[in-house]
Amino acid sequence: MVSRVIPVDPFDLVVFGGTGDLARRKILPALFRRFCAGQMEQGARIVGAARTEMDDAAYRFFVREAIGEFDAAHARDQENLAAFLNIVHYVTLDARGNTGWKALAGLISPNRVKAFYFSVGPSLFGDLAERLYEFGMADGQARIVVEKPFGRDLSSAKALNATLSKHFDESQIYRIDHYLGKETVQNLMAVRFGNMLFEPLWNSQYVDHIQITVAETVGVAGREEYYDRSGAMRDMLQNHLMQLLCLIAMEPPAKFEPDAVRDEKLKVIRALDPVEGHDIVRGQYGADEDKPSYLEHVGDPYSTTESFVAIKARISNWRWAGTPFYLRTGKRLKARTSEIAVVFKDAPHSIFGAEAGRHRNILTIVLQPNEGIELGVTIKEPGPGGMRLIDVPLDMSFAEALGPDAEHVPDAYERLIMDVIRGNQTLFMRCDEVEAAWAWTDPVIASWEKRGDRPLVYDSGSSGPVEALALMHRDGRRWREIRK
Ligand code: BG6
Repeated sequence: MVSRVIPVDPFDLVVFGGTGDLARRKILPALFRRFCAGQMEQGARIVGAARTEMDDAAYRFFVREAIGEFDAAHARDQENLAAFLNIVHYVTLDARGNTGWKALAGLISPNRVKAFYFSVGPSLFGDLAERLYEFGMADGQARIVVEKPFGRDLSSAKALNATLSKHFDESQIYRIDHYLGKETVQNLMAVRFGNMLFEPLWNSQYVDHIQITVAETVGVAGREEYYDRSGAMRDMLQNHLMQLLCLIAMEPPAKFEPDAVRDEKLKVIRALDPVEGHDIVRGQYGADEDKPSYLEHVGDPYSTTESFVAIKARISNWRWAGTPFYLRTGKRLKARTSEIAVVFKDAPHSIFGAEAGRHRNILTIVLQPNEGIELGVTIKEPGPGGMRLIDVPLDMSFAEALGPDAEHVPDAYERLIMDVIRGNQTLFMRCDEVEAAWAWTDPVIASWEKRGDRPLVYDSGSSGPVEALALMHRDGRRWREIRK
């Protein structure tokens, strides 16, 4: 099975913040992999732009180092690497002043797709948009790509949307949520809408509850300042987990097209009930033997920012009324794993008697680390001795099912950047979606701020505060184990 690569038309891609962390770790290696895959036609150009003074040669060296560090396997392909570096350029530029803008405008071709990746803090978004306009680069072929955080509440998100929309149409604004670019996340839509098997059961009549877990082992080192102003709710739940929730819960769109998909996601967000105080648990990781606690990390013993949050959400619509959605995410947990579990209801009557035990079908969609989909089914335990039932997984690990092809599953940034060039906004957030998401999370955050709640301390390497377990226990349910 060989995946098809369709080359995109020649383009100019400018990475503002071209010397920053995201560019080094994700954007540049992703571009190189797409180059190696043969997706860039002759004439494609990548321009790094930042304040640091350097020329093309120095930037090429920087790019080579970044690729070597973050994608050693591809970096070994010296021939492709040399060819790739040839299409890389650099402009020293000041977002708030005039330095470098004429040079950038001179480098960009007027008659083709040009994408401007704002890989900088949101405080510079407005300046960059303004300068692009002033220097004649905000034409109909221009696209801007903006990274999160997209605001820190509804009013700042609205202000940001208003700033960007001064010079760019909504169809030119690509708000990245890299979770939407993950292979399994898209597979979730394929599984739901490409099979007859699941959709008839995909509602509160058959689904007991849904769990979404995004667990990380890392702490906040290196991003203390940003993180302490955000916390797990703003950093992860308001965007990544919310997007997963939307894709799981949305009605089938008529077509897999940007507005059709985004309209359905928006309806889900708007149907979310307000969250009650007792349906939220916030936590902060404590110290480990050799690793500092959250408070030590951020250097503020009084910080009330959460590094863990668990929430019970309810969607008030015909499909989901009565089926709770439990969401949790946190840093410094037991393992790095992201999964969605759709837990079906018990069979209405057990013909095998109480001794057969309680069995449930669970559809688990694993986003990482071992991407795949698993369906738990109940079967008879082999052997004599009566009808004893066991649950076994019908496992579709992509690595096994797809063989060598699975190794080449593009990472989220590869797919998303190419979608920008192709002009496909399906996997990007529309302004009303972002605003609706803040409109739901704002009162939740305001309520704990008003009460002055302190997050509960949890052990590093655990599953989060025990109170998060209780959030489900009191409903007679339990979280799935955070598996390695
Ligand atoms: C980012 C968050 O958006 O996603 C980080 O800001 C988080 O705090 C990261 O670590 C997780 O992404 P992934 O792809 O590693 O699950």
